[in-house]
Amino acid sequence: MVFAVAGATGHLGRLVLDSLLDLGVAPGDIVAIGRDTAKVSDFVAKGVVARSADYSDRGALDEALAGVDRLLLISGSEVGRRVKQHKNVIDAAKHAGVGFIAYTSAPHADTSTLALAPEHKATEAMVRASEIPYALLRNNWYTESYVQVAEQAKYTGLIIASLGDGRIASASRRDYAEGAARVLVAEAHEGQTYEFAGDTAWGYDELAEVVSEIVGREVTYKRVSSKEHRKILSKAGLDMGTAAFVVTLDTNTRDGALADANPTLSTILGRPTTPLATGLAEAYAEAEASRAAEAEAQGEPDTPQ
Ligand SMILES: NC(=O)c1ccc[n+]([C@@H]2O[C@H](COP(=O)([O-])OP(=O)(O)OC[C@H]3O[C@@H](n4cnc5c(N)ncnc54)[C@H](OP(=O)(O)O)[C@@H]3O)[C@@H](O)[C@H]2O)c1
Repeated sequence: MVFAVAGATGHLGRLVLDSLLDLGVAPGDIVAIGRDTAKVSDFVAKGVVARSADYSDRGALDEALAGVDRLLLISGSEVGRRVKQHKNVIDAAKHAGVGFIAYTSAPHADTSTLALAPEHKATEAMVRASEIPYALLRNNWYTESYVQVAEQAKYTGLIIASLGDGRIASASRRDYAEGAARVLVAEAHEGQTYEFAGDTAWGYDELAEVVSEIVGREVTYKRVSSKEHRKILSKAGLDMGTAAFVVTLDTNTRDGALADANPTLSTILGRPTTPLATGLAEAYAEAEASRAAEAEAQGEPDTPQ
C-alpha cells in the first residue's frame, strides 16, 4: 500500500510524515509531494520517496501520483488560486487510480461564514464528485498561529483584536497531523466528514493569561471595534486588503465560526488534544530556539539591542 502526502514539504505535512512513520508505515511506502522537495531531504534520508509537483502543474501531478493507493491532499497556501489547483490534484488522483483521498478542509466548510471557507467548500464538492472514496478533515485553527501574537505582546503587553468574546477551538498541528495520518492508514474512515478541533475552545482573555505566562509579563486583551482594528492594522503597515481580511476573520470568529470544540479529533487520537497553554508554550519555545540558532549562524546577538 503506497501512501502519498501532497503538501508534505510544509509544517503540517512534515508532521504527517512523522506520524505515518510512528504508525509503522515503511518509509519506502510513503510518497512526499511538494514543490520544494529539498525541505523533506531528512525524510528522504530515511527512505521516504520525494516527488516534486506544483498543484498548478497537472502533468507533474500525474507523475507524482503514479502508483499511489491513498492520498492526503493538504490544502495549498495560495488563497484565491486553490480551487483550480486542488482540481488538478483530484483529477490527477482519479487518472492515477488513487483509491482514497483525504482533504484538509475548514470548520463547517459547507455552511460557514468564514472568509476562507468557499475554497474549501468547492474543493469538498470536487472530492465528492470524483467518486474516489474520501474523508474530509475540517481542521480548526492551529495553536501555532498565535506565536506571532505572543511575540508582539512580549513588547507591548497587549493583544488587540476585534473578535470580542469569540472562541477558538484550536489544537496543535501535531494533533491534526496525527489525526490525518490515522485516517490515511485505516479504511474505517471512508465517507466520513470530521470536524477536527481541540477538546476545548478558548477566548482572548484566556489567551492573554497564557501569553503572560509564556513571555513573563502581564498581557491584557484589548477589545476594539472592527473600524478601530482596521485603522490600527493600517497604521502598523498592513495594506488595506490584508487589514480588511484580518478584521473579517476576527468578525467570523466573533460570530462563532471557530468555536466548535468537540471530541472528534481526540477520539481518533485516543488521547486529549494539546491544550492551548502547552501547545503555545512549545511553539513559542521552538520559534525562539530557531531564531537564536539563525542569529548564531549569522554571528549576531539573538536579542534586539
Ligand atoms: N488551520 C489553520 O490554522 C491553518 C493555518 C494556516 C494554514 N492552513 C492551511 O493548512 C495548510 C497546511 O498548513 P501548513 O502550516 O503546513 O502550511 P505551510 O507550511 O505553508 O505548507 C503549505 C504546503 O502546501 C504546499 N503548497 C502550497 N501551494 C502549493 C502549490 N501551488 N503546489 C504544490 N504545493 C503547494 C507547500 O509546498 P512548498 O513547500 O513547495 O511551498 C507546503 O507543502 C495551508 O496550506 C493552509 O491551506 C491552516
